[in-house]
Amino acid sequence: MNAHADVLQPLRHLLTLEHLPRAQLVALLDRAQAHADGHSERSALAGIAICTLFFEASTRTRLSFQLAAQRLGADVLNFDVSTSSTRKGETARDTLRTIEAMGVRGFVVRHNEDGAVAALAASAGAETSLINAGDGRSAHPTQGLLDMLTLRQAKGTDFSRLKVLIVGDVTHSRVARSDLHALRTLGTGVVRVCGPAALLPDDDTLAGCEVSHDLDAALEGVDAVMMLRLQRERMEEGLVSSIEDYHRDFGLTAARLRRASDEAVVMHPGPINRGVEITDEVADGPQSLVLRQVRNGVAARMAVLEALLA
Ligand code: CP
Repeated sequence: MNAHADVLQPLRHLLTLEHLPRAQLVALLDRAQAHADGHSERSALAGIAICTLFFEASTRTRLSFQLAAQRLGADVLNFDVSTSSTRKGETARDTLRTIEAMGVRGFVVRHNEDGAVAALAASAGAETSLINAGDGRSAHPTQGLLDMLTLRQAKGTDFSRLKVLIVGDVTHSRVARSDLHALRTLGTGVVRVCGPAALLPDDDTLAGCEVSHDLDAALEGVDAVMMLRLQRERMEEGLVSSIEDYHRDFGLTAARLRRASDEAVVMHPGPINRGVEITDEVADGPQSLVLRQVRNGVAARMAVLEALLA
């Protein structure tokens, strides 16, 4: 049992980072860092079965959860929607209850509907834990965790000194919402958000943020730039006039990046639309932490699986 076990004890599901107490968020990040440093108990989840239940496509999240569970000694089942009985009309709830009946205790669930993972959690058995691996545009808590871990490694643990800029399609981004929840909880000094008006939500998602539609101005002096993918699969037609216009106004180029702090880092959750929200030169350049984010995904997910299931 790790030193943060008491703080993490009350977590049964991880559905969102919103309202997660700072002590729990920091404990998860500390534990994720320990995993990143190689301090893992290889049999922490021995005898525990975990199922990745993805009703929407994924590369990073699904594979890193698989790897994380295997590194902790769990038995891992990967549910394949395309060959499953959901094709015969079985509901997500019945699918979960069926796999649960086999003795599976942990479910990592991705779904295209907002709130779908919370609804499944409400119908799960008392011994079952669910982790939201992304639901609609609502939340992607483990992406938020791995992003904070990456930012902390690059910039230190005192977020009050940081200016962080989030750029792009916030309206359709569950990553942006989870990042904003975590950045607020960690007391980030300045959070700027920049994007076309049509892609910035007008509810309380951006409360407390400096909002701008001018990327050149928004980049001035920031310590970290978090680029978002243009979520074309969740977007109504016509919200963006053209990909070329979007790139001209909101694409991160090497020339633009010079407006940020000299030590600024660039992040992107992936998958990247190269040449749309970010150029190859920036995505693959020295300030990019994109692959470090991917690597940290395994450590962050190990911390979450351990906190919920060990
Ligand atoms: N960032 C992220 O969630 O990527 P995948 O869709 O590949 O899992």
